[in-house]
Amino acid sequence: MRITVIGCGYLGATHAAAMAELGHEVLGIESDPVKRQQLTEGRVPIYEPGLSDLLSHHVASGRLRFTDSWAEVADFGDLHFLCVGTPQKAESLAADLSQVESAIEGLAAHLTRPAVVVGKSTVPVGTAERMARRLAEIAPAGSDVLLAWNPEFLREGFAVEDSMHPDRIVLGVTDGRAEKVLREFYGPLIDAGTPIVVTDFATAELVKVAANAFLATKISFINAMAEVCEATGADVVDLADSLGYDARIGRRFLQAGIGFGGGCLPKDIRAFVHRAGELGVEDAMSFLRHVDDVNQRQRGRVVDVAQAMVGGLAGARIAVWGAAFKPDSDDVRDSPALSIAGALSLRGAQVSVYDPRANDTARVAFPTLVYAESAVDACLDADLVLHLTEWPEFRNITPDHLDRVVSRRRIFDGRNALDLEAWRTAGWTARALGRP
Ligand code: UDX
Repeated sequence: MRITVIGCGYLGATHAAAMAELGHEVLGIESDPVKRQQLTEGRVPIYEPGLSDLLSHHVASGRLRFTDSWAEVADFGDLHFLCVGTPQKAESLAADLSQVESAIEGLAAHLTRPAVVVGKSTVPVGTAERMARRLAEIAPAGSDVLLAWNPEFLREGFAVEDSMHPDRIVLGVTDGRAEKVLREFYGPLIDAGTPIVVTDFATAELVKVAANAFLATKISFINAMAEVCEATGADVVDLADSLGYDARIGRRFLQAGIGFGGGCLPKDIRAFVHRAGELGVEDAMSFLRHVDDVNQRQRGRVVDVAQAMVGGLAGARIAVWGAAFKPDSDDVRDSPALSIAGALSLRGAQVSVYDPRANDTARVAFPTLVYAESAVDACLDADLVLHLTEWPEFRNITPDHLDRVVSRRRIFDGRNALDLEAWRTAGWTARALGRP
């Protein structure tokens, strides 16, 4: 089918490349001229495993193109996927919907033939209904233009895999015609056994925020348990392992540590709290404020532990391993690792950061920190090493790599991913959150 992808950031670029791989003809519209040029040359402006190859392959084959023209987009597509960002507003917890609104306005005016506009962006419940009304008001093709909501659940680091093999396809529709077109569009995935849920707009919008709220709650639950473990001498890793064997609970998202970050979980739970307030169900969602608080508290706890380990932060030399909000990503949006590095620096520590992929993005966000060329370089004369993003390469570093590099043999594991016993046996002081 001939489809367009509106907004070619992380979500849009991945969707565009993956849908070209499924066999569709794809035209992406991206307003940022630098990004658009990169994409046109088959380059991806972000680090995402597998995406660069897939995108360049389909740009070269001619199945994937990019433009900045609404008229061209409207003329080309039978389906238009809305993939623009919905970041947190600067002045409140709410989501900023200006990109969604302007995309609908920009596209609708040119829609002179039948089409389905498919929202993929994460939006507050009620947005789809409002956008459907705007489309009906503006689009020259009138009732031949339909809206559907089809939330995207892809994870950074696994975006291509999640697009090609989704856990489920959720379709919010009000018209059987839209369902029919989308079932045809996702045919290869449905034939491969992907479950499909067809529902109304509100439910489809809610599935996405509810999923992220649940995941965030799970992480904050285990991080709250880590504090209890510290007060009692218990071990949060053994606790999580034992809980995880209960199939009703499961081990995933029970990894205790410095908490969640990134461009989705933090802003989505805040926007959800805000929207719940507007809907008069704030009390029902108030636990999400605690989820956010527990999450923010982990960052402060690490700063306290670091201070205790070095005996005063002013002038202390601290190596930070990791800046991205999670491994296999160069995304530093709301990254706990970088926020801790920044807080330590503000308190007078000399912080040297190393991330295998995110040094450049981190430098833009925190230009005053020092960025090292390697994990070992970051540790030169360090009084303390902090492991804050669990890239596999950090687990391969053994004490003998660092014994003669650091000034003091102290390490803190913010992700509960290192072998603390091995470090202790080698004479290091090794600590972690929620572990004896
Ligand atoms: C998330 C959702 O998983 C995805 O479905 C949605 O589409 C977008 O938001 P993502 O932001 O890529 O995806 O990251 P995710 O893998 O969910 O991790 C989020 C954060 O939680 C990371 O900072 C990660 O380090 C942290 N995390 C995750 C934990 O602290 N503990 C865990 O057990 C799991």
